[in-house]
Amino acid sequence: MSNVVASISYGERGRILLVEDSATLASEAAELFIAAANSAVEERGIATIALSGGSTPKQMGLLLAQPEFSRQIPWHLTHIFWSDERWAPLESPDSNAGEARRNFLDHVPVPASNVHVYDIEAEDPAASAKSYESDVRSIVLTDNGVPRFDLIFLGMGEDGHTASLFPGTAALRETSRLVAPNDVPKLKTTRLTFTAPLINAARRVVFLAAGAGKATRLAEVLDGPIDVNELPSQIVRPQGGPLWLVDRAAISALSKQPES
Ligand code: 6PG
Repeated sequence: MSNVVASISYGERGRILLVEDSATLASEAAELFIAAANSAVEERGIATIALSGGSTPKQMGLLLAQPEFSRQIPWHLTHIFWSDERWAPLESPDSNAGEARRNFLDHVPVPASNVHVYDIEAEDPAASAKSYESDVRSIVLTDNGVPRFDLIFLGMGEDGHTASLFPGTAALRETSRLVAPNDVPKLKTTRLTFTAPLINAARRVVFLAAGAGKATRLAEVLDGPIDVNELPSQIVRPQGGPLWLVDRAAISALSKQPES
């Protein structure tokens, strides 16, 4: 049964799927994961799904780790990637893949070879990004030479960043690499991130955003002028637009409100 209480179109900027709160958001995200994995396997024999870091995907992972969800997923044909990663070992709480493994993937029967983590023992982030791009190219089915994920989950930071595409950073201007290292001066670090050409080739992209802390930025991203350099989430324009799976608290500043 769907948790979605309203659907609001923002044209090319996407479609809002409204749920009540962060708990129903995680459950709806888990349902989207299951549906995407099954239809991709049915249609193409393989499912490729990219997760992101952040709090909401974590809640989704906790649900998917439970047998009633997990048993609905064709794990042997499902491949997991991450749309971004921190330059941190898997054991670190900063590692997106490490967190997902501990909460989720270590508790489901996914073959280890289907879980694609960034190599943070590579010489440097540039080398790691390059080898991750090769992994993506070797597994994800392509269309006109570009790999098309079945589903990419993204979050939106309160500064408007998505994946590790932060405001004012170089990876936002990337047009050829699919995965890039990205210096983030305000965090004094380098992150690894999918770039727009890879994100926008996906069959489906779903933002997960919950809580009042996202409200102002979400309104800027969907209602305001386009300024990708300041609002990187606006760079996400897959065919048909992204889905925005959001809770009531996150939509309070939007110009369009659900009819009640
Ligand atoms: C990361 C991310 C990042 C995240 C947003 C939203 O590794 O930090 O992938 O883009 O998705 O910051 O995070 P929340 O969902 O926790 O607000």
